[in-house]
Amino acid sequence: MGTFYITTPIYYVNDEPHIGHAYSTILADVMSRYHKLFGDEVFFSTGTDEHGLKVQEAAKKRGVEPKLHCDEMVVRFVELWKKLRINYTRFIRTTEKKHKFVVQSLLTYLYERGDIYFDTYEGKYCIPEERFWTEKDLVDAKCPSCGREVITIEEKNYFFKMSKYRDWLRDYIKDHPDFIKPETRKNEILGFLKNPLIDLCISRPKSRLDWGIEIPFDKKYVTYVWFDALTNYISTIGVYRDNNSFQKWWPCDIHFVGKDITTTHAVYWPIMLKSAGFDLPKTIFAHGWWLIQDEKMSKSVGNVVKPVDLIDRYGVESFRYVLVKNMIIGSDASFSEEMVINTINSDLANDYGNLLSRIVNMVEIYFEGKIPETAAVSKTDEKIITAGKSLPESVKSYIENTDLNSALSAIFVYIRKINKYIDETAPWTLYKKNKIKELKTVLYNACEGFRLISVLLSPIIINKAETALSAFSEEVMKYIDNVNENEEIYSWGKLKPGTSVKKIDSIFPRIDSDLKDTGKPERKMKDKEKDKVKKELEKIDIEYIKKIDMRVGRILDASPIKNSETLLKIIVDIGDGKRQLVAGIAGQYKAEEIVGKEIVVVTNIKPAKIRGTKSNGMLLAASAGETLSLISVDRSMDPGSEIS
Ligand code: MSP
Repeated sequence: MGTFYITTPIYYVNDEPHIGHAYSTILADVMSRYHKLFGDEVFFSTGTDEHGLKVQEAAKKRGVEPKLHCDEMVVRFVELWKKLRINYTRFIRTTEKKHKFVVQSLLTYLYERGDIYFDTYEGKYCIPEERFWTEKDLVDAKCPSCGREVITIEEKNYFFKMSKYRDWLRDYIKDHPDFIKPETRKNEILGFLKNPLIDLCISRPKSRLDWGIEIPFDKKYVTYVWFDALTNYISTIGVYRDNNSFQKWWPCDIHFVGKDITTTHAVYWPIMLKSAGFDLPKTIFAHGWWLIQDEKMSKSVGNVVKPVDLIDRYGVESFRYVLVKNMIIGSDASFSEEMVINTINSDLANDYGNLLSRIVNMVEIYFEGKIPETAAVSKTDEKIITAGKSLPESVKSYIENTDLNSALSAIFVYIRKINKYIDETAPWTLYKKNKIKELKTVLYNACEGFRLISVLLSPIIINKAETALSAFSEEVMKYIDNVNENEEIYSWGKLKPGTSVKKIDSIFPRIDSDLKDTGKPERKMKDKEKDKVKKELEKIDIEYIKKIDMRVGRILDASPIKNSETLLKIIVDIGDGKRQLVAGIAGQYKAEEIVGKEIVVVTNIKPAKIRGTKSNGMLLAASAGETLSLISVDRSMDPGSEIS
């Protein structure tokens, strides 16, 4: 059992939280819950970035003190995180005393060691971005980052000697492959470091801005917000340096950030830490952006997606799952309600939720609602047990690699395997044939497999996993609450035979794509989109197709059926023997003309009697009105060849 320290960016307190903020925070929450599940002691920090010109101006506009403004604004984040079941260890605000103390101590340390100096500076300054640019950075004389007007400012300021550390940082990044992830972001930073690094202006004169942390060695200045904000990653875990908590948690394991703030985290921050004599965080992981129809979300475009609306409509667990599942962590992803509905219906309702109903029903019908003991083990059973035993280890190693997408896909492959296992072993047939030992084994394995996946999904679908597990007794639920004491919760065989199974309501009901009109224009789906969703939902899963066994059949004999003008009795060779089938093609084909043809036969259709003649299989034909055309293969194939 180790320690694991993870952070989200601290959000600008002025912003109204949107799905981008929610995503960063859910990711960190999910990662931290997985680490807890696998036995780590976790520190998970998030919070708000509360200083700077924008906050000062917003407060002024409202006619309130900046601190009061922050106190009111911060509630939006705290409440959203509560709603999203974000289980952070600490919520840090940069207006806290402790944080100020750490920022000032750090500044003093860097100043005393000569890495901060005072100088006159003339530069182009972007007010909204609160940063200086050089003449050559500008794009059409405007801010290269936000495209807005810049102003020329000449002032005396304090500068941090970043230039001096450029070569060291380049080597460090090259020597530590996990330091910046994913690879694309690392390469961007290495590209950026090919150019000389400019020293960073880390102060602002109070005459221009006084809502910030005072520079400890010059009362006329406050600290640049990014210097202030980045330091939160240290102040959140305790007071500076010789503090026990600091020793315990630093260096941080993962700083999750959005791709737009990679430079501040992968260049400024490591240099600040190096200058202060601290170790560097193990990984800075830059995730992509959620886009709306390939566009950035912005208030002015009016396409900002608010998490609260989605949570209210689809439920918190589904929302968490949908976000985690649909963004390949490093890349951008497109958000739409269509995506939300499709993911819920296919993964949560169809694969996971259905499995629960299936097994609970069967245990109830065949074993009076009690988990049977496992008795006979066939090769098919063995396969499902082996896969179940190795699943937690693979999920664990994906998580250690911050590869949530692969972890999820491994879990869902297993869910589909269990569904297939049930289809193939067909408990209903085992019951009919009185193969009770086999039936017990299949149902035990299916229940245990389901329990395992619920535990492994619990970091994402917290409540729903608990509800699902409660079907298998209260005791199993207790595991979730005390994960640290029950590291073995995810090992195979924990489910006790004899446990009573409770019937519970469908945990993830299918969502009707025909969204209810909520009255708000932005929630209405265009008709076209609705059609698309409907079509999407009507599509069948590949697993359905795989269930149909189709083979090449060579017609050995054909004869009319008495008193029928449409039916022919046909004998086909389908590789493993002869089959007799009855087909309604007599109006189009004469018996003798089809003998020798290689056609396509569905072999696993239930046998039937048609006009008193046994039919065991079905041939395929194209039809247009009265006209029929037998489907045959393009090249001669051996009878029994599979159609795939
Ligand atoms: N306050 C700074 C961070 C300081 S950390 C020491 C900041 N705040 S922010 O509120 O503007 O952004 C916070 C995070 O939200 C960033 O990681 C940013 O990338 C992320 N997102 C903002 N919009 C986003 C999307 N549309 N999609 C995903 N994440 C995005 O920057």
